[in-house]
Amino acid sequence: SRTVARDAEGVATVGGIDVKRLAAEFGTPAYVLDEDDFRTRARAWRDAFGADADVYYAGKAFLSKAIVRWLHEEGLNLDVCSVGELAVALAAGMPPERIALHGNNKSVDELEHAVKTGVGHIVVDSYEEIERLAAIAARQGVRQPVLIRITVGVEAHTHEFIATAHEDQKFGLSLNGGAAAEGVRRVLGHDSLELRGIHSHIGSQIFDMAGFEVAARRVVGLLAGIRDEHGVELPEIDLGGGLGIAYTSEDDPREPAEIAAALAEIVRRECAAANLNAPRLSVEPGRAIVGPTAFTLYEVGTVKPLEGLRTYVSVDGGMSDNIRTALYDAEYSVALVSRTSDAEPMLVRVVGKHCESGDIVVRDAFLPADLAPGDLIAVPATGAYCRSMASNYNHALKPPVLAVRDGAARVIVRRETEEDLLRLDIG
Ligand code: LLP
Repeated sequence: SRTVARDAEGVATVGGIDVKRLAAEFGTPAYVLDEDDFRTRARAWRDAFGADADVYYAGKAFLSKAIVRWLHEEGLNLDVCSVGELAVALAAGMPPERIALHGNNKSVDELEHAVKTGVGHIVVDSYEEIERLAAIAARQGVRQPVLIRITVGVEAHTHEFIATAHEDQKFGLSLNGGAAAEGVRRVLGHDSLELRGIHSHIGSQIFDMAGFEVAARRVVGLLAGIRDEHGVELPEIDLGGGLGIAYTSEDDPREPAEIAAALAEIVRRECAAANLNAPRLSVEPGRAIVGPTAFTLYEVGTVKPLEGLRTYVSVDGGMSDNIRTALYDAEYSVALVSRTSDAEPMLVRVVGKHCESGDIVVRDAFLPADLAPGDLIAVPATGAYCRSMASNYNHALKPPVLAVRDGAARVIVRRETEEDLLRLDIG
């Protein structure tokens, strides 16, 4: 978090509170989220895209009722991809018309519920879903706005993108071979569906705008094809999420204003070239808004030096609260936050308490050589895809999410208890 500072004793403070106080009051492990930082980032995205575009926060990165309220207050919309996420959004008072529903295999129940709720639009992902949704909307007597998710043949991750391959995945309707154009025909053939536009999402943790450039060109190409074939100009395009954040000092993310200007310019240019009116643009950042705003606070339990290798530092959480290292080889940094130390740095691997050796939180890092049980350490940039992908492996209890602001901390998602686990286990 941008607002982590140190007091005179070297104890880290966040939102004006020292982490020792947080640990004493709320226990560890805990996700500590800086509310001002979240609101500032959300607002920066909103302001950067301006009145001619919509920013849908991708709830899959992390969703809770407080988050929904902050998004609402800051003027963002919300992308949900399940009825569970939809339930949180509605419980926190997000107006349905500001919610978009995603997913490659939405159930009939999910579609019925979303239509009944009056979500702003549904992003359809397959021929079957087009038929299902058309029937549901017709039964409910509504004309449901939809976007069609297409696969533009671009896959982008971090510093690389591949513009011609990667058709081989489950999402969307492919441009290549005409599936996307056929999807358009089918949607236009149903009176109960209103085709609002085209959606593309090319990957995640992306720094290079070149992949978006290719995607936008291909999406606009489809819009031009639709105009030529059907005589309609669709009013919207959504270029998805995927903008990267700094997990370590090697990552150099772009500011929302720069991203917004680049995307708007690409769309403007491509539309001008195709002689189309520029459609309304929307984007769906998740990680870029919430990722940097939280860190995970752990207590060190054991410090085990392995001669000639490294020191294993075991903390009171692990792959159940952050699966990203095990799953994606993700890189994180770590810092001692409960005190200062002048000791030499030692090479460590921060590991959890789960019953497997892949249970790694930070693969390679340095911590002071006098690190000892009871020290508190923090792993920054865990706001996205950590709590939302947390599991109960080994019957671990999911940690709470604490929101700090102006010297006060409050629990926005409480720690799980044994009763929570046993409540589901009905024998
Ligand atoms: N829109 C759509 C349609 C998406 O599928 C996603 C992410 C987003 C927006 C938001 O992407 P973001 O801005 O957060 O990168 N669990 C992985 C990330 C999976 C992303 C899936 N889709 C991770 O921890 O890195």
